Amino acid sequence: MEVTLKILRFDPLKDKKPRFQEYVVEVYEYTRVLEALIWVRENLDPSLSFRYSCRMAQCGSCGMLIDEVPRLACKTLIKDLGRDEVTIKPLPKYRVIKDLVVEMDDFFEKHRSVKPYLIRKNREEQEKPKKFYVQLPHELQRYLNYGYCIVCGLCSSSCPNFDSSWEYLGPQALSQAYRYIVDSRDEGFEERYEVLNSNSGVWRCHFASECSENCPKGVEPAQAIQMLRRMILSFSFKKKLSLFSEKIHRLSKQ
Ligand code: FES
Repeated sequence: MEVTLKILRFDPLKDKKPRFQEYVVEVYEYTRVLEALIWVRENLDPSLSFRYSCRMAQCGSCGMLIDEVPRLACKTLIKDLGRDEVTIKPLPKYRVIKDLVVEMDDFFEKHRSVKPYLIRKNREEQEKPKKFYVQLPHELQRYLNYGYCIVCGLCSSSCPNFDSSWEYLGPQALSQAYRYIVDSRDEGFEERYEVLNSNSGVWRCHFASECSENCPKGVEPAQAIQMLRRMILSFSFKKKLSLFSEKIHRLSKQ
């Protein structure tokens, strides 16, 4: 069957504003959007730009807005879209470099800001572990869902909060903070506390849940953010209580 790909194109070096360009492509039962784009570039228009690598929903580089929904092009079957015209745009909330390729430096910077790795209080132990850190199945279950994140950015591009606050860390970074905090081998909650509890942290989330809705790997960032909120509230309360007890103790000694 023939399908028309309606692609939003923009080259900041040549174009004043984005414009749609249409390409007619022959597709089959298992043709995915990425394969159709590759066919267009190889046969019709070598100037069309898009990003991809693994072709198997693992590297997270082929995210784009397909029929107004953030999706991975390599995972999306054209037949599942159920239309003979498919609209393809770059992921929203990111600056367009060219056509479907967007700038993701800020996104990765936010990911790094929550320290997405295991932290031990003893830094020497962190660098040179002397033993295996045994983990039980139920401990693995606490973070397994969040470990499936492929850092594709679809969740953050779905999040309506970025329209009002660009500083917001976003669902991807926050869910990865949660993934490490609930890992039984990690001791880094206090080290991440400031950034998570800041103006750009968990309190920005309005629980729209678009992030969880659009994650191609079934990760639940919206849930992770709510769990982080609970942890932060409980930690802040304990901190205040201990300061208060210290004060009472000091006063009673005077
Ligand atoms: S090409 Fe790697 S996720 Fe699509």
